[in-house]
Amino acid sequence: MAEILRVVVSARKGGCGKTVVAVLVARELARRGRRVLVLDLDPQRVGVSLRLGAPVDPPLPYTAVDLVLGPSGRPFSAHSVIEGRLDLVPANQRDLAPLERLLAEMHERRTAATGGDLRRDLLDTRLAGVEVDYDFVLVDTPTGFGEVTTNALEAADVVLSPIDMSSADNVESLADLQEHLEEVKRQPRVFFIPNKYVARERQSQAALARARVLCRGRLLERALLPSCAAVAQAMAERRDFVATSETAEALSLGVWRLGRLLIGLAEGTAGERLAEGARDPRRRWLPPPRAPKQRPVLDARPRAHALPAPIAPRSSPLSRFRPPGPS
Ligand SMILES: Nc1ncnc2c1ncn2[C@@H]1O[C@H](COP(=O)(O)OP(=O)(O)OP(=O)(O)O)[C@@H](O)[C@H]1O
Ligand SMILES: [Mg+2]
Repeated sequence: MAEILRVVVSARKGGCGKTVVAVLVARELARRGRRVLVLDLDPQRVGVSLRLGAPVDPPLPYTAVDLVLGPSGRPFSAHSVIEGRLDLVPANQRDLAPLERLLAEMHERRTAATGGDLRRDLLDTRLAGVEVDYDFVLVDTPTGFGEVTTNALEAADVVLSPIDMSSADNVESLADLQEHLEEVKRQPRVFFIPNKYVARERQSQAALARARVLCRGRLLERALLPSCAAVAQAMAERRDFVATSETAEALSLGVWRLGRLLIGLAEGTAGERLAEGARDPRRRWLPPPRAPKQRPVLDARPRAHALPAPIAPRSSPLSRFRPPGPS
């Protein structure tokens, strides 16, 4: 039987595509008939609430802050984005601004009262009370690993972490997620999503080569998301994304594969290779620090067994989005 799957989108780096991934995956799961609740914890002007077309001007009847902080006299309610399929607990900058501090204070008080190394499990507990009508809960988080994000990670079954592939330097910040997760007591499965990939750009190729080494099996290379103007446009216009070009088709394919993976994980049927790397949540995915004589990043080639199957046959119109690597 399918379980409610909580998916948290998180990364150290700003602008890597957390909100875009949350929106695309939420719409994809809804399209496939799943009931999805999106929780907006990202205090950005252009956060998931706006991009899903929700009104965000205060006062909102019920916000993500009500949900996280618990009983406030306001009963749970969600904004319907797609009737019966996709709901959103919205928030705006003003609501979310004090949340980081409030959560830290609550945690300090609980620690002082009970002692010990307490789990930051507020969101975990609150979600359990409201999620029963859904198949998936998707949480968009702020950049970095503050109190809000740590609460979200403590509630997560799965973490999706987009990597901005426009520069190889972006890939190095993956180590921060691993370090932070070692302090999180509930161990979610982690998947990295290569985002904003540009096949012809050497920086993107170098980023992908480095990500293969660093993420090992946790890199969802088959769900690679190219840089695509249409998706940025759709987000700006707060509408669903329509694939009208080859690049957009490739992005749709990546999102479709992400949806398939998440449904497989929820239904316990994710035996496919996409999920292989995250089987053992306690396994470290980063290699030890680089040896001094290691080859430069641009020459770094993945080991043969770390390569996934090609994402499309050579004759496919999508083949130019296939990541470089030995054929
Ligand atoms: N695959 C993509 N193709 C083109 N543009 C993209 C893609 N992914 C994200 N973007 C654009 O990159 C910018 C940052 O994306 P997004 O807001 O999702 O990042 P974020 O990680 O949520 O940022 P923040 O840390 O500010 O919350 C946005 O303008 C978005 O439209
Ligand atoms: Mg964001």
